[in-house]
Amino acid sequence: MDRIALVGGIELKGSIPISGAKNSALKLQAASLLTQEPLVLTNMPELADTRFMIELLEQLGVTCFWPKGSGRLSMHAEDLTSTIAPYDLVRKMRATFNVLGPLLARVGHATVSLPGGCAIGARPVDLHLKAFEAMGADIVIEGGYVKAAALRGLKGAKIIFPFVSVGATEHALLAATLAKGETVLENAAREPEISDIANCLLAMGAKIEGIGSSTLRIQGVDELTGARWSVIPDRIEAGSYACCVAAAGGEVTLTNMVPETISSLIDVLQRAGVDVVVGEDWVKITRDPHKPIKSVDIDTQPYPGFPTDTQAQVMALMTRANGASIFRENIFENRYMHAPELRRLGADISVRGSEAVVRGVETLRGAPVMATDLRASVSLIIAGLMAEGETIISRVYHLDRGFERLEAKLSGCGANIRRISGSED
Ligand code: EPZ
Repeated sequence: MDRIALVGGIELKGSIPISGAKNSALKLQAASLLTQEPLVLTNMPELADTRFMIELLEQLGVTCFWPKGSGRLSMHAEDLTSTIAPYDLVRKMRATFNVLGPLLARVGHATVSLPGGCAIGARPVDLHLKAFEAMGADIVIEGGYVKAAALRGLKGAKIIFPFVSVGATEHALLAATLAKGETVLENAAREPEISDIANCLLAMGAKIEGIGSSTLRIQGVDELTGARWSVIPDRIEAGSYACCVAAAGGEVTLTNMVPETISSLIDVLQRAGVDVVVGEDWVKITRDPHKPIKSVDIDTQPYPGFPTDTQAQVMALMTRANGASIFRENIFENRYMHAPELRRLGADISVRGSEAVVRGVETLRGAPVMATDLRASVSLIIAGLMAEGETIISRVYHLDRGFERLEAKLSGCGANIRRISGSED
């Protein structure tokens, strides 16, 4: 397993192009199952997770073509050869569960392994399954598998989600495009990735109203066509690099992004004393490293609230703030695994349930640390950029799941960061 070594205390200067959003790309990949024609995705991030989804699609009979370095993935699900997503593939990455709805909608049945819990929380899929049941599917859970059937096709339904779920909204949306009649999704999640998926589905011939709002209205169509779609830029990657610059100091322009998708993070950075200039598709982050970081409290919420996926990154920044910050994690029940690792660098963090208190310290010092999940791993990079001396992060496969060319992007701005292949891990 690879490790990453970085030496802190160096200002970052330059520009960082933002890649396509992993969490949109994965569901767009699942959308390829809805049509017999090719779906071509551009601005496709080359990540362990997106490669992994291709492995599953190929197993289902989808022909995938992804020339290395092209950022262009073509998926052609002309003839599906299987409707089974096995445990071995689903357990490695939860988003593979999202093939269930498209298979059910197009073929009328599917058998997909239950994804199970994961490090950040239990993450059940009950809302996904209730939505399909409301659309007329028979669902049986047997031997760790969800067996779903709607042999005469899915029917439109009114689905009121009891709380906001990104995954359930996306999954129901995908399936509803081919259901008979109208489906209404109420209390739907409004994350930009959902609008991206909905807009791609429109390009494929779906009929969807209310995109970007909490009520989505979908009129089912008999079939969808192929399309060419550019994946929305990754707001979490952009937010993570914004925190890197805020932490290390310097001046970096993040390019090829949608600034409004990180508005809540920009607000937090400005309150922390970081200068942010917003352009049409870029954001410039500037901080004098000698100027103190002001403490800011964080309350994670569904979009447009502050995202859980940048909680760890801001926590890393707040370890050096002038005063105490209170964090409330409202989305996942176990998302402070980075706290003990940050403490190894000298951070003062106490966690009680969903609340964490971070008291800023004068100095962080480099240490060996371990990545525990995707966003937690980038928080260790952020802390390492502020720390004196060398930080060595193990288990960077977590990072490789969601950050494309991270070392190259940061070293392009002057960071002293390198990958060590193989390890003692
Ligand atoms: C998506 O997860 C993202 N993953 C997560 O990003 C992100 O943190 C999360 O949305 C919130 O923004 C992908 O898009 C692949 P949810 P998802 O359904 O869809 C509970 C990353 O690092 N819930 O909105 O799983 C659930 O347990 C990842 O890129 C149910 O109880 O999130 C959680 O507490 C991590 N039953 C809450 O709802 C259900 O059926 C919100 O989860 C579904 C969810």
